Amino acid sequence: MKHILEVKQVTKKFVKSLDKTAKFVNYFGGSYKEEVVHAVDDVSFNIQSGEVVGVVGESGCGKSTLGRMIAGIMPLTKGSIAFKEKHYVGYVNDKYQQDHAIDLKIQMIFQDPFSSLNPRKKVVDIISEAPIHHQIISNKDKKSFVAEILNKVGLNTDAMNRYPHQFSGGQRQRVGIARALAVSPEIVVCDESVAALDVSIQAQIINLFLDLRKNMNLTYLFISHDMGVIEHIADRIVVMYLGQVVEIASTNEIIHQTNHPYTKALLGGVPTLDTTRKIYEPIKGEIPSPLNPPSGCYFHPRCKFATEKCKVEKPLFKEIAPNHFSACHLND
Ligand SMILES: Nc1ncnc2c1ncn2[C@@H]1O[C@H](COP(=O)(O)OP(=O)(O)O)[C@@H](O)[C@H]1O
Ligand code: SF4
Ligand SMILES: [Mg+2]
Repeated sequence: MKHILEVKQVTKKFVKSLDKTAKFVNYFGGSYKEEVVHAVDDVSFNIQSGEVVGVVGESGCGKSTLGRMIAGIMPLTKGSIAFKEKHYVGYVNDKYQQDHAIDLKIQMIFQDPFSSLNPRKKVVDIISEAPIHHQIISNKDKKSFVAEILNKVGLNTDAMNRYPHQFSGGQRQRVGIARALAVSPEIVVCDESVAALDVSIQAQIINLFLDLRKNMNLTYLFISHDMGVIEHIADRIVVMYLGQVVEIASTNEIIHQTNHPYTKALLGGVPTLDTTRKIYEPIKGEIPSPLNPPSGCYFHPRCKFATEKCKVEKPLFKEIAPNHFSACHLND
């Protein structure tokens, strides 16, 4: 299988500039420094065509920032993203590229469709806006076009004459999905797309995503802080901690051959009906500030297996079994 997407050493830094007071104090010998957050730090992985790759990690670990860069709505600080091995965003031979051929091919679906759907527009116009703008359809075809897409996402045709506030949360997310699909993307980045929904509705929307993958040949990057959601939908899982990838493997390996202590801790927090697994146990300790990450292995202050080496030496991210990668000194 060919890669549809290659994420290579992607990095995003946010620099918080000094305010006037700090600059003033520095002028007289003060030592205020700009604060730099490495929201995403040297992240690399591939996505195969038709695959669902899950990205999981606690809040603030850089999932949304990574998703936005992949969807082309946030520039990269370093690294590159290649779509079908020929369209690039990011640095290629030290020159920044932004190939607009990918703009429509990678679409993003957010947590809260309410904030991204124009409340004054009817669904028919919300869904047809981008395809008309990009001349994928003409104005006279919009009703039949929208009817077909509503059908694909499990909504009735008459939904097109309603406004966003006239739908339930789950239905509104279906409208958000329909809008993203209206430009015929090949990759959909779902950022916490079921997080705001009730558990029963979550399952319906996840099943819709899986049906759409089959029927529309979609590939997903599915972002969630919730390992329970990720293990349900993903073929392969990327585990992030403080901007870095700590483990990548197939979902089966992540669940049954868990390697990284952080992944184990995340799985320990998944409430499950399977009685062979641990009961709910949140990860101990606070997430360190990304402004000032710990030395050595970033997870060491919270890791129950940490040794002296972990405090000083950063573990390498390496292949510990075929297609199973992890960054932990316990593998040495
Ligand atoms: N626009 C921004 N400006 C400054 N810092 C940001 C910005 N967006 C995200 N961050 C910081 O980057 C880190 C990663 O954030 P985010 O990607 O939203 O994480 P997640 O989606 O995993 O919760 C956090 O420390 C966050 O505060
Ligand atoms: S390298 Fe050390 S601190 Fe980091 S996860 Fe492995 S055992 Fe824990
Ligand atoms: Mg997020």
